[in-house]
Amino acid sequence: MKERLISQAINVLEENFQPGGFTIPCKGLYPFQWKWDSGFIAIGQAYYDVSKAKQEIATLLDAQWDNGFIPHIVFHNESDTYFPGADVHRSDLSPVSSKKYKSTGMTQPPVTGFVLEEMYRIAKDKEDMFGYIKSQIDKVYDNHKYFYKNRDVNDEGLVFIYHNWESGTDNSPIWDDIWETMNPPEYTFERRDTTHVDASQRPSKREYDHYLYIIEIAKENNYNDAKIAELSPFLVLDPLFNAMLIRSNQALINLYTLIGDNDDKIAQLVKWQVKSIKGFNKKLWDKNLGAYVHYDLRSDEPISFVTSSSFSPLFANIPSKERADILINTMMTKFGGEDKYLCASFDPESDRFDPKKYWRGPVWINMNWILFYGLKNYDYNNLAERVKDDSVELIEKFGFYEYFNCKKGTEDAGYGGGNFSWSAALLIDFLNN
Ligand code: GLC
Repeated sequence: MKERLISQAINVLEENFQPGGFTIPCKGLYPFQWKWDSGFIAIGQAYYDVSKAKQEIATLLDAQWDNGFIPHIVFHNESDTYFPGADVHRSDLSPVSSKKYKSTGMTQPPVTGFVLEEMYRIAKDKEDMFGYIKSQIDKVYDNHKYFYKNRDVNDEGLVFIYHNWESGTDNSPIWDDIWETMNPPEYTFERRDTTHVDASQRPSKREYDHYLYIIEIAKENNYNDAKIAELSPFLVLDPLFNAMLIRSNQALINLYTLIGDNDDKIAQLVKWQVKSIKGFNKKLWDKNLGAYVHYDLRSDEPISFVTSSSFSPLFANIPSKERADILINTMMTKFGGEDKYLCASFDPESDRFDPKKYWRGPVWINMNWILFYGLKNYDYNNLAERVKDDSVELIEKFGFYEYFNCKKGTEDAGYGGGNFSWSAALLIDFLNN
């Protein structure tokens, strides 16, 4: 079983690999390079083709802007199967954008730091991988510097996202109340995602109007971060995003320590790290829910819902042992019933929960992977095994889908795009650990 699944997973990744040296998340649906997808993909590739893994990250980092920013989509090629494409995002409006590649002007969770460390863990030829890491690591450091310099508006160690697409959890119910505060124009455009995937599993047209409106504001200000911080109707502290940054800080500290001769950078990273972990525990912990939550910087209020992002701080060693116990208890009470696969992306007890709709409920393999290692960090080994087994079972039963229904016994429980790259890549890692 294991060998067969791994070879199917490799097949998916090979099919999605592009001549430009990067891997698309999914044929038809996502025809370019996505930032956090690339990170997860490289982890899978590192098991069977190290040179592809190295290339995947090098290609992404090659699209870095002069200010250290790394965009969420790199438009390596022309494709009209995706909306909104390069002509909508217009990265050229920013004076610091890449001259080499068109991209979006927004980013995604900063996974690249810990991905380098994972690649080092997986690589058989450590010396070769070490050389590669030395050649790339400063770009990732510059990216963290960008975040702390431009996005920590309250100087509390927490960085904002200005668009729901930056979170990676596109249509989460978390954003519903923010959409209520906005009244965007009715844009005319042709969606392409709904030609590939059943519309009932995707965001609505009206939601897309909101998504586009925020981009228009950012474009009017040439993607200037200070202006965005001032004017964007969407400004959120996201626990997943900040946990990925914190975990990546730690990876950079570990890797620079191995490399040696980088005391200044290590000292700076440690400073960021201490401040971020403190700020995180202070601002994003919701005592009543017993979970980490999002925080809306516009209304200056927490957004009190439990999502799979609420558990991601375990991956970055953010909670104390005591707090981790509370968090895991919350997870098991709401998400962990025997009738359910772990882990739904949104609180199954909430009336905003939808088991089929993208980030409003379905299980995502990348979030399960983050949870698996997070639980292991706190020695919840049996529970970690359950998360792994649930992930493998979903893929084995239904295929390499983008997301899955958490309710056991559902027929055809795989949704969204098929042959989805990170589901394949992370399955390879699951089956090797
Ligand atoms: C969707 C997901 C996002 C992912 C992208 C490409 O937009 O919400 O997290 O990066 O697809 O797979």
